[in-house]
Amino acid sequence: MSNVVSDEKIPNNVDLSSDRRLQRALEAWQPKFIDWWKEMGPEGWQAKDIYLRTAVSVEASGWAHFDFVRMPEYRWGIFLEPKDPNRTIGFGDMMGQPVWDEVPGEHRTMLRRLIVTPGDTEPASVEQQRHLGATAPSLYDLRNLFQVNVEEGRHLWAMVYLLHTYFGRDGREEAEELLSRRSGDRDRPRILGAFNEPTSHWLSFFMFTMFTDRDGKYQLSALSESGFDPLARTCRFMLTEEAHHMFVGETGVQRIVKRACELMKQDPSGDVRARGGIDLPTLQKYLNLWYTLSLDLFGGEISSNAADAFASGLKGRHKEDRYQDHKVLEGTYGIDVMEDGKLTRRDVAMRTALNEVLRAEYIKDCQRGVDRWNKTIADEGQAFELKLPSNRFHRQIGIYSDFCFTPDGTPIARAEWEARRGEWLPSDADEAYVKSLMKPVYERGKIASWIAPPAKGINGLPEDFEYVRVE
Ligand SMILES: [Fe+2]
Ligand SMILES: [Fe+2]
Repeated sequence: MSNVVSDEKIPNNVDLSSDRRLQRALEAWQPKFIDWWKEMGPEGWQAKDIYLRTAVSVEASGWAHFDFVRMPEYRWGIFLEPKDPNRTIGFGDMMGQPVWDEVPGEHRTMLRRLIVTPGDTEPASVEQQRHLGATAPSLYDLRNLFQVNVEEGRHLWAMVYLLHTYFGRDGREEAEELLSRRSGDRDRPRILGAFNEPTSHWLSFFMFTMFTDRDGKYQLSALSESGFDPLARTCRFMLTEEAHHMFVGETGVQRIVKRACELMKQDPSGDVRARGGIDLPTLQKYLNLWYTLSLDLFGGEISSNAADAFASGLKGRHKEDRYQDHKVLEGTYGIDVMEDGKLTRRDVAMRTALNEVLRAEYIKDCQRGVDRWNKTIADEGQAFELKLPSNRFHRQIGIYSDFCFTPDGTPIARAEWEARRGEWLPSDADEAYVKSLMKPVYERGKIASWIAPPAKGINGLPEDFEYVRVE
């Protein structure tokens, strides 16, 4: 038995100790992963003890084991939801047939793309967030950052497991590529746009985990319906971890909102910036930015790729079992398209609109979070409402990307859009201001001026617990 790969070092439920081929593949890949983690993972914190959650088994008692650990020694495991031997394909042309335990030859290329594209976002986000440990607003937040980072690392493992086990040589090559692309790099960027954007401060981090991780939730949910059973089972387990990332984002923004409202009351002229906070109009701009970058991740509104992935039984809809019709051979979806400078509603075949169907579910979910932020503002006695902009605003992918729209979705000329951009999206001055607030607060129980303390601590521990041993 090798000293690199063992059930002890790599907790798993895929029978790793008796799978020689997988062991050999991981023995080659795992040291490269650790090198990547040390080079591109959280900067400056690799030798510190962090209070982290580790999944050590899929049972309710095992998937959230808490202890102090140094990040390079984190036990990145490989977990799939237990197999249901009677599971059948739940949608598309192959509906009702047994699910696949091996990759069907005719779908190999599409399936590989469906695994590599989300797989690439996992290391990308770790790279985007690697400097944030220098400026965390509290030990609680610092620990949450690292928790998100190590779990994105585990999600990379989950996808690499699929590539190594089911895709032979091209799978191994793809697994190497996942470690060689770099977020924001001009020559070898990450695959998707939002994952090349800088996440240079904590406001962007919270917006990212609120909106961009939530895209991940919906993509994983659609893939968890897949007729390729190992992919479905992998994604189901990842979703349990993803929930925490969105919690970090939603509550992070909510705490900034709360603090802004408190400072509005403290300052005689309601000037939040004068008191060292992040004002609500600035929050709205970052919301506009990260929400629209995340909308792009769902792909084009009208997409033959989406139709093919559904027809082939590879990617379903969010909660497919809630639908009546799982073949979707009939039916249309209304989409507003630009024609002669005006918006016109067009009905397109439902199968080609499945990206839009998934995006619509995502939008509803985002709205629920924004409603909770607005409730905080109302509870604090302030008259201000945060809003999700129109799905046409600031798009770089899809049918709206060649046109300009205001945040409420009205078409406008490009010159006007450019002139007003700074009203709607963070300006250089906003970015400089937010960055100026980012000073680390690493004393137990202390918190930065621009954010309210969390409502409670982690795993039943007090909020002022020493979640990261700084010394
Ligand atoms: Fe993830
Ligand atoms: Fe995530």
